[in-house]
Amino acid sequence: ATLRIDVVTIFPEYLRALDLSLLGKAQRDGLLEVHVHDLRDFTHDRHRTVDDTPYGGGAGMVMRPEPWGEALDHVLGLAPDRTPTLVVPGPGGDRFTQQRAHELAGRDWLVFACGRYEGIDERVVEEYSERVELQVLSLGDYVLNGGEVAVLAMTEAVGRLVPGVVGNAESLVEESHEDGLLEYPVYTKPASWRGREVPPVLLSGHHGRVTEWRHAQRIERTRARRPDMLPHGQADRGSPG
Ligand code: ADE
Repeated sequence: ATLRIDVVTIFPEYLRALDLSLLGKAQRDGLLEVHVHDLRDFTHDRHRTVDDTPYGGGAGMVMRPEPWGEALDHVLGLAPDRTPTLVVPGPGGDRFTQQRAHELAGRDWLVFACGRYEGIDERVVEEYSERVELQVLSLGDYVLNGGEVAVLAMTEAVGRLVPGVVGNAESLVEESHEDGLLEYPVYTKPASWRGREVPPVLLSGHHGRVTEWRHAQRIERTRARRPDMLPHGQADRGSPG
């Protein structure tokens, strides 16, 4: 159950970060396979042009469909034994969530198409949504200059859910966004630092009390910082529910 990831971009160097740290090790361990492709390699003019002015006028440039068509036809032919899911990052897409990360971690092949935010000619999305499963996904309600940073974020969130990538699978369970609550606060040595003490219960040795305290902290934190994550009626202490 290895995951293959292909990324098409005009900035292949952005994706070098995938060779570092946890995902780098996962690649070396054969759990993850990452292939990065330069969109400009699929142009045919001297200047390797990937964009043009928008029909109908307006600000910015739009990515031309021909290089995208050639690039995606090429990439989608690279692993005939796998089933591709084409992901197009963009601020107008469905929200990328932990649930979506789990879903994508269950696929065997993700192909990411990085556009600049003015976008790729819409016909590319039309064409490939008829040929493969295609998801337009947004990191959140803000605008990036292009899809590359979004691919880094999505690839990290997905890659760490691939079995074996995170050494201690238990560390995946009690995390924020896995079960509807934020994480509890964590502490390490020393027990006293700049006059600030580690909560005594954590030094008590009572495993049951530690578990209870952590659960209470998760609920309190979620209430304080992310009431939108709690069931309706539990968002503030005073409400009758
Ligand atoms: N590209 C530009 N903005 C983006 C966003 N918010 N999420 C994903 N891709 C993007």
